[in-house]
Amino acid sequence: MSRFETVSKISVGGIEVDNPFWIAPLAGITVPAVRRFFEKQGAGLTHTEMVSCSGVIHGNRKTLRMLRKGGQKSPAVLQFFTGNADSLVQCVDKGGDTWRKSFDAFSINMACPMPKVIKKGAGAALLKRKDSARRMVEELRKAGLPVWVKMRLVSAGDLSETLRFVETLIEAGADHVTLHGRTPAQRYEGSADMEAVCRVASAFCGMVSASGDVFSPQAAMTYLERGASAVFFARGILRDPFIVERTLDNWRKVPFSSRNNLSPAVKIKRLMDLGEDLYRDEGEKICLVLIKRFLSSIFKGLRGASRFRRDVADTHSWEETVHVLENWRELAERSDLNG
Ligand SMILES: Cc1cc2nc3c(=O)[nH]c(=O)nc-3n(C[C@H](O)[C@H](O)[C@H](O)COP(=O)(O)O)c2cc1C
Repeated sequence: MSRFETVSKISVGGIEVDNPFWIAPLAGITVPAVRRFFEKQGAGLTHTEMVSCSGVIHGNRKTLRMLRKGGQKSPAVLQFFTGNADSLVQCVDKGGDTWRKSFDAFSINMACPMPKVIKKGAGAALLKRKDSARRMVEELRKAGLPVWVKMRLVSAGDLSETLRFVETLIEAGADHVTLHGRTPAQRYEGSADMEAVCRVASAFCGMVSASGDVFSPQAAMTYLERGASAVFFARGILRDPFIVERTLDNWRKVPFSSRNNLSPAVKIKRLMDLGEDLYRDEGEKICLVLIKRFLSSIFKGLRGASRFRRDVADTHSWEETVHVLENWRELAERSDLNG
């Protein structure tokens, strides 16, 4: 048994999970290698990137690559985006038994505020298209996996529209709803309304998980203590790629003496392993983009951080990046980089 497995599982949204600390769907980021990285840290569940139903239907190669579970053993949710129920049905028909065997639930994206998604009547546009949203849930239920929805606050201030929307989804048969505490108009600006998310979660006990501004173990714990069934880590994993492990240690009250040593040298080594995995799975270009995003955070507040960031930013191949990282790891092992 790994140090993060619990004896008793928790059942949320039709899935048995080890814990309520989950990795959010992140377009361009939650590829299989990244999901495995967080699985190793103990995340209870992960999401794929959002997958375009139209891309699946038309056999787009890039889209089809997103449909791999990639050897992951812990639960994974496959998220789709589309503006209509017919294309959702057509898309899911294509995957048939393969997806049913690989994934643990299907999720519908009703949260994305980006114009290219909204324009198609998809993502957050569905918050204003309640009948279509309801039909999507009803149709997807027939595919034989639990149906999840990820949504945003429908409007600012008054919660009644959001509560009614969640109620509609649940009546239509949604097994689980995740609420991001920003409105579509806010995109990623300002702060998430944690209070609103917790009030909605409390109103639909056991059915609603939380997303928005989960940048610390404390924020995750606050959501749980105030009624959310689970918490989604999103930009938080870019600011601190080890946040899940730290949160689990807090949640399980692991004594400080038994916690993993997350020194700069250890963090660099772990991210180098992630880089190798990304390089093998995704190729050099994607590996470099992603690994640089994760690396940019780890030296924050430490002596030499800006030099490290510059050295990494200046690399143009994985081989060069490995060379820089080896040098910094040696330095970190030899000296005290704590500022
Ligand atoms: C780069 C990026 C990609 C995202 N991709 C998706 C996606 O594919 N599907 C989705 O439902 N939400 C997506 N989101 C939204 C996140 O899952 C999350 O709800 C949002 O970032 C709020 O959480 P945070 O404030 O903790 O980052 C994305 C967010 C970011 C920053």
